[in-house]
Amino acid sequence: MSSNNAIVLKKYIDPTEGYPKIGEHFGLEERPFNLEATKVDEEHPLLLRNIYTSIDPYIRIRMQNPKYKSYLPSLGINQVIPNLTLAEVVKSAVPEHKTGSHVIFMSGWEEYTLVPKQAMGMVQSVNNPYNLPLMTFVGALGMPSQTAYIGLKHIGQPKAGETIYVSAASGAVGQVVGQLAKAMGLYVVGSAGSDEKIAHLKEIGYDAVFNYKKESVHEALPRVCPKGIDIYFENVGGETLDAVLLNANFHARIIFCGCISQYNNPNPYGLKNYSQILTKSIKVEGFIVMNLMPLYQEEYFREMPKLIAEGKLKYKYDVYMGLGSIPEGFLAVLQGNNFGKALSKIADE
Ligand SMILES: NC(=O)c1ccc[n+]([C@@H]2O[C@H](COP(=O)([O-])OP(=O)(O)OC[C@H]3O[C@@H](n4cnc5c(N)ncnc54)[C@H](OP(=O)(O)O)[C@@H]3O)[C@@H](O)[C@H]2O)c1
Repeated sequence: MSSNNAIVLKKYIDPTEGYPKIGEHFGLEERPFNLEATKVDEEHPLLLRNIYTSIDPYIRIRMQNPKYKSYLPSLGINQVIPNLTLAEVVKSAVPEHKTGSHVIFMSGWEEYTLVPKQAMGMVQSVNNPYNLPLMTFVGALGMPSQTAYIGLKHIGQPKAGETIYVSAASGAVGQVVGQLAKAMGLYVVGSAGSDEKIAHLKEIGYDAVFNYKKESVHEALPRVCPKGIDIYFENVGGETLDAVLLNANFHARIIFCGCISQYNNPNPYGLKNYSQILTKSIKVEGFIVMNLMPLYQEEYFREMPKLIAEGKLKYKYDVYMGLGSIPEGFLAVLQGNNFGKALSKIADE
């Protein structure tokens, strides 16, 4: 008898209650599993062995009570927490996914996943012409990089010579935004919450950087963006957004990707400078990557794997070893303690 342990939601946690607690709101559930006896059939055509799974901040939104409507439904109590995962097919009842091949699927934080037939359309075969490491498919090529690519290129409409400011710049999304923007000829400014992260931003080509925990964003922005801000890639919200509005140029664009400073904030920050949106004709556009990815999938997979294979896009990972380390990794992401893209290695390749 082997195991199919999982990280499950145990209790809803609302935005005003602060950070989720391991053991109370979510945690490890031990589940015995008979791998040999588990069969695939028409109803459940695939059995997956999960190898690398992504750890993303948006899961926090899915842990709240269903009365808070969002772009994805709240999870059910005792439901395994789903997230984008690179998995090996261990049993298959369909010819398109052979045993031993690799797929990407929203299987999530558990050791094995039996895929129901209704979800088969979401199972993607790994296409790897550049022979990239397998973790790339939930890392440098995964959902946060797709967010960076689509947000910058298609929402931001960047032009060479413009100034872009990126918050949470060393994270999964931010590190890609900065490098892509630099390659497009922009002046690239970033902020992060530790000196180690700041050093990394300089290494990957950011033109100007600051540690927002040492220098207030209000003081730093006029200094690091002497020509003002044309594009803001918004990852954190709150006071940072307020300071950006004061330093934004006429016709600036705000790519509203996330507001992580507010996800666990019992006292949501009230914007003070929103009249700047009117007086500077600023365009603020929110987006959810999964809604736009079908439009840009083809160009994304044409351009990005090549950039990574050629070493033109550096990518820092923060890998949590073993399923049991996922809760710690998730809290690290929410509390700013991750450094690079957080993911977990659940099993050997
Ligand atoms: N719209 C979409 O479809 C989409 C898709 C993916 C991600 N997102 C959003 O993009 C943002 C970045 O996600 P990610 O996956 O790249 O995460 P990440 O940047 O790898 O990790 C989160 C980082 O946010 C920063 N942070 C945490 N709490 C903060 C706070 N109170 N104030 C300021 N910064 C804080 C921390 O870095 P520092 O140490 O630098 O503070 C932390 O390392 C999130 O808001 C996420 O929800 C949106």
